[in-house]
Amino acid sequence: QEVRVFAPATVANVACGYDVLGFAIDSPGDEVVVRHSSKPGLHITAITGDDGKLPKAPEKNTAGVAALDLLKHLGMTDRGIEMEIHKKMPFGSGLGSSAASAVAGAYAINCLIGEPLSKKQLLPFAMAGEASADGAWHADNVGPCLLGGIVFIRDNEELDLAQIAAPDNLWAAVVHPDIEILTKVAREILPKEIPLQNATQQIGNLGGLLCGLIQSDYGLISRSIHDVIAEPRRQKLIPEFYKAKRAALSAGALGFSISGAGPSVFALCEGEESARKVAAVVQKVFSDINLENQSYVSKI
Ligand code: HSE
Repeated sequence: QEVRVFAPATVANVACGYDVLGFAIDSPGDEVVVRHSSKPGLHITAITGDDGKLPKAPEKNTAGVAALDLLKHLGMTDRGIEMEIHKKMPFGSGLGSSAASAVAGAYAINCLIGEPLSKKQLLPFAMAGEASADGAWHADNVGPCLLGGIVFIRDNEELDLAQIAAPDNLWAAVVHPDIEILTKVAREILPKEIPLQNATQQIGNLGGLLCGLIQSDYGLISRSIHDVIAEPRRQKLIPEFYKAKRAALSAGALGFSISGAGPSVFALCEGEESARKVAAVVQKVFSDINLENQSYVSKI
């Protein structure tokens, strides 16, 4: 028996929802294949799409760590399992690459052994996998990657999450300019303390965005997608960020910000046509400075 799993890319943070709000997109995503083996223990037999960057030792990559953590929890570390990892999105892209592999690793193992745990119960194992890569514990990538759709995290330590139904016609335009930003670096440049006025603004925007999503109020969504804390610091790492933002908003985006730690950027849009138009104008900004880029348009 063989199990093949796809885990999608995620946009997280969603602007004002630093470490607490993320959503999954249709593509790109990573694939993990697992099968039973007569050789005891977990063995990674193949890794593709990683330019040789990922070690095959299971305890050294996010899919392997998540899988091992789950097998340990179930007392099954001697079980013979082969794993293949097929990376289909770039590292350091701001699209939750390490989280996708971790989710795929834990989910694939759970399926192979007869689904003893629910999706939600897999969260801590996938989280352990992701944390092994970026050293931080935030569920805004793993949550939506595992559960789908939009996920709000009330508390990262407790993994207290809520899924939020997206408005019917909400689309995302995501553009990845081809540079690499290390999450660690993009987190270190954020301030440890923030002025009360900024905190108040950010809380207001996050509340507005959640209400807008729940009530399908596109106007409220648009007024609320503003990040006054991370975006002003992180935009420096992305060439022509504000030019891309102006282009997206002029083309009709509801809002525009950085996906995760960057360099990917995203826009929320009402309708597919709008999302495709916004993706095209943002791509042009990067192409005009000879920066290679890819776009992904997805219904949320
Ligand atoms: N929420 C995280 C951040 C995502 O913005 O640093 C990075 O993977």
